[in-house]
Amino acid sequence: MKDLKGRTAVITGASAGLGVRVARALAREGMNLVLAARSADALETVATEMRGIGVKALVVPTDVSDESQLVRLVEQSIAEYGAIDVLVNNAGIEAFRSYHELDPNDIRRTIEVNLTATLLLTRFVLPHMVQARRGHIVNMASIAGKQGPAYGAAYGASKAGMIAFTQALRGEYRSRGISSSAICPGFAKDGGIYEVMKQRIGRGVPWYLGSTTAEAVARAVVKSIKGDRPDLIVNVPALRPIFTFCQAFPRLGEWIVHKVTHRFLKQAGTSHRE
Ligand SMILES: NC(=O)c1ccc[n+]([C@@H]2O[C@H](COP(=O)([O-])OP(=O)(O)OC[C@H]3O[C@@H](n4cnc5c(N)ncnc54)[C@H](OP(=O)(O)O)[C@@H]3O)[C@@H](O)[C@H]2O)c1
Repeated sequence: MKDLKGRTAVITGASAGLGVRVARALAREGMNLVLAARSADALETVATEMRGIGVKALVVPTDVSDESQLVRLVEQSIAEYGAIDVLVNNAGIEAFRSYHELDPNDIRRTIEVNLTATLLLTRFVLPHMVQARRGHIVNMASIAGKQGPAYGAAYGASKAGMIAFTQALRGEYRSRGISSSAICPGFAKDGGIYEVMKQRIGRGVPWYLGSTTAEAVARAVVKSIKGDRPDLIVNVPALRPIFTFCQAFPRLGEWIVHKVTHRFLKQAGTSHRE
């Protein structure tokens, strides 16, 4: 979808972190927005800013783990704008812990919020896109979905699911004018869940793991829609060669990844009890 001006985007997780940056980037493209998350007040603040940019912004307080609220989100978006051109499945939570100590409810919750909500909301939006023969679905995955991280098994599983889902959607719907992209950010050093992890651990990610910024992630979302990109890995240094290497040489690949990431991830996964 090359021209986004005057089109409509629904963004989940738009009350904080990366979602706010994505909203800003799409507003700058002239898109009217539907902002969804649980925190109504925070959404109103974001909406006021977006209206200042010159676009319309509808606030729909939504818990994405509640199916009926997802249905209502779609209904209210269609009632307000008549179409949903872009859906950004961005709402997400992290669950970095030793897996055998992770509360089963946290496992369920991670899959529900990150993956099931993405699958269901897309299911409810797609009939409108199919009818319009136009649409783009952006799924906010992670580099954790490209190579499952130690101490982030449930999180990595949810993000890998989002990437596979994106690929399947592309195969099924592109001939009908609807496409899909997965965004795979590294650690965003200026906001969001990584900031929280950093405060918990008491130090940042080692330089050799690289990082990204919320602004770069937001730019990637726009690029993925306009350029119809299957996936974008947003990190400096570039990680695609490493993931390609891991695919080609899994045993050597996992050894290298372990050497480079294990200490930091272990701290992230065990810092809760310290
Ligand atoms: N930041 C990073 O370094 C990074 C890296 C890779 C991938 N990601 C992915 O990027 C996405 C955004 O993360 P972030 O870093 O911006 O996190 P964040 O700052 O914690 O924001 C998460 C957003 O999701 C919303 N959310 C959480 N649970 C929800 C629920 N049940 N229903 C509706 N909304 C819910 C939150 O809003 P409410 O609390 O108001 O509901 C908030 O708006 C996530 O999918 C995350 O996995 C982030």
